[in-house]
Amino acid sequence: MKPQPVRVDTAVSRRAAPQVRRLRPDEWPAYRSIRLRALLDAPDAFGSTHGREAAFADAEWQSRANPPDGAVFIDDGPDGLVGMAIGAPAPSNPGAAALFGMWVAPGARRLGVGQALIEAVKGWAISAGYPRLGLGVTTTNAPAIALYEHLGFVATGERYPLRAGSERTFQIMSLPLTPMSALDEAEGADGEPDQ
Ligand SMILES: CC(C)(COP(=O)(O)OP(=O)(O)OC[C@H]1O[C@@H](n2cnc3c(N)ncnc32)[C@H](O)[C@@H]1OP(=O)(O)O)[C@@H](O)C(=O)NCCC(=O)NCCS
Repeated sequence: MKPQPVRVDTAVSRRAAPQVRRLRPDEWPAYRSIRLRALLDAPDAFGSTHGREAAFADAEWQSRANPPDGAVFIDDGPDGLVGMAIGAPAPSNPGAAALFGMWVAPGARRLGVGQALIEAVKGWAISAGYPRLGLGVTTTNAPAIALYEHLGFVATGERYPLRAGSERTFQIMSLPLTPMSALDEAEGADGEPDQ
């Protein structure tokens, strides 16, 4: 059956609960759209840039949409794609998982989408046996830091330049993943956004 195209939202005024699910490999064009939109919307939130990734070939997007050792999650509601997050091995610490590419469309913020995306990445990391989930967040990004602290991430004290040519720095935050947190998620699933 021919796959249906997935829309990327334009504006979202009202939504139901977050609808997070794993990206399908055939949805790479939608993944490219939402990722490039994120890079344009929040250039200081990411180490990469719109200019760099807009030049990627289709094969690069196809590979990124289907990472062999990671997982891409999207929020795919009636308004189209409004959020994304990626789980993958931490580059400098392959024994830990890392959260990358976290972005929610401006019209869908403060509705629990970010939290639901992180819970999905957490679930993936726990299933894959990782003991810890880390991330890098720009030190001036108060909304994102508030979100991560809300979910129990703690700053490790490590800080690095965001990228060459930028005056920003990012800090590492980390969350221990234990079998107990998997249990908590299962027990809290009724009252929580999509896990
Ligand atoms: C940071 C971001 C992902 C948050 O997504 P979101 O869907 O709005 O977050 P949620 O609705 O799940 O928020 C959950 C909790 O996080 C905290 N939080 C989220 N955004 C916040 C903000 N702007 N101010 C203060 N607290 C905030 C709150 O505790 C919130 O709970 P509440 O709404 O009940 O008070 C979103 O603002 C975004 O995409 N920003 C641009 C890209 C970016 O900065 N990415 C992070 C890269 S490291």
